[in-house]
Amino acid sequence: MKTARQLSGTQLADALRDSRARTLSLVEDLNDAQWKPPRQLGINPIAWELAHLAWFAEFWILRGPHQRNPQGFAQAHLPPRFFAPDPLFDSAQLAHAQRWSANLPSRTELPSMMAAQLQACIAAISVDDDAALYFHRLALFHEDMHGEAFCWMRAALSFPAPVAVQVPSVALNRPLHISACTSEVGYPAGAGGFAFDNELAAHTVNIQALEIDSAPISAGAFLRFVEAGGYDQPDYWPGEAGQWRAQSGMNHPARWRKNGSAWQMRWFDQWLPLLEQMPVMHLNAFEAEAYCLWAQRRLPTAQEWEHAAKNHAEFSWGQSVWEWTSTPFLPYAGFVAGPYQEYSAPWFGNHRELRGGAFATHARMHDARYRNFFQPHRNDIFAGFRTVAL
Ligand SMILES: [Fe+2]
Repeated sequence: MKTARQLSGTQLADALRDSRARTLSLVEDLNDAQWKPPRQLGINPIAWELAHLAWFAEFWILRGPHQRNPQGFAQAHLPPRFFAPDPLFDSAQLAHAQRWSANLPSRTELPSMMAAQLQACIAAISVDDDAALYFHRLALFHEDMHGEAFCWMRAALSFPAPVAVQVPSVALNRPLHISACTSEVGYPAGAGGFAFDNELAAHTVNIQALEIDSAPISAGAFLRFVEAGGYDQPDYWPGEAGQWRAQSGMNHPARWRKNGSAWQMRWFDQWLPLLEQMPVMHLNAFEAEAYCLWAQRRLPTAQEWEHAAKNHAEFSWGQSVWEWTSTPFLPYAGFVAGPYQEYSAPWFGNHRELRGGAFATHARMHDARYRNFFQPHRNDIFAGFRTVAL
């Protein structure tokens, strides 16, 4: 069966149009005040993010061959046609804080610039060949990731939920027993299609027998930890987790509140009653691990997660939240950075792996091998977790 990683040229053209339509739909209803949100960590000015994703596609698809300049930044052989200059739109070159004072295309200029860029990128699709389609596929997934980032932005800034986004629920959680075995992790060399550099090289790992949750932890389950005073028990917050806990002063998930005796969950611009089968989300890795300590369980490793997702139909994933794992984000043996070197390599060592996919993640991004990664204290992403028996 063909996957999103193996889209042909014609399918890619459609997918690029689809991704762009989604991108624009996620920002076009915002009013002018919402269009220029206050500076906030994890959020980009909307005009910068739109111009950046269009620049990215143009830079990699239309302007090769590429090399690195003496500062280590990617350089393209051909001049820009739609989005320039490179240092303004290359996320590696323009620090987050500078994006707020940059001279950006206006809201009225952007649609025609982006349409021209997209049309030229689609016109550049030639043969159905993995090497020839590499940058189209990279640009597609990159734009899909920014689509999800626009969803976090809308949630973080209390904007209305995007029209197509529904409140997710988690499947009923049952213990899933997995036998000891060896399992292949990563993107196999012979599979064809597109792999992210951090998914290579595929390798075999030993999986010990384990009992893993069949679904991510629900809000109802996490509420029992909160009500048991889990946030106040130092034993559950060792080391760095304790520092975060002391600094944040939180005693429940960031986007929960108690209204009288009823718990509520923040959902974009509304407070909703907390329902048992909602996923718990906007948790950081420390909160996920504190729950595990309380429940006398642990987080899965990324390898356990990948094995379960690939081999067990009852393993429910990808519909509700990203899932923290216990695995630090590190290169696989034989790692070679892709042409877009800033995708993985700068983040090895200080980020944590998440697997799965959230309600706001485009279905194309759902792949059991896909390695998402964030710093463990981040709670602005749509992340929850599942657990494994000790
Ligand atoms: Fe980007």
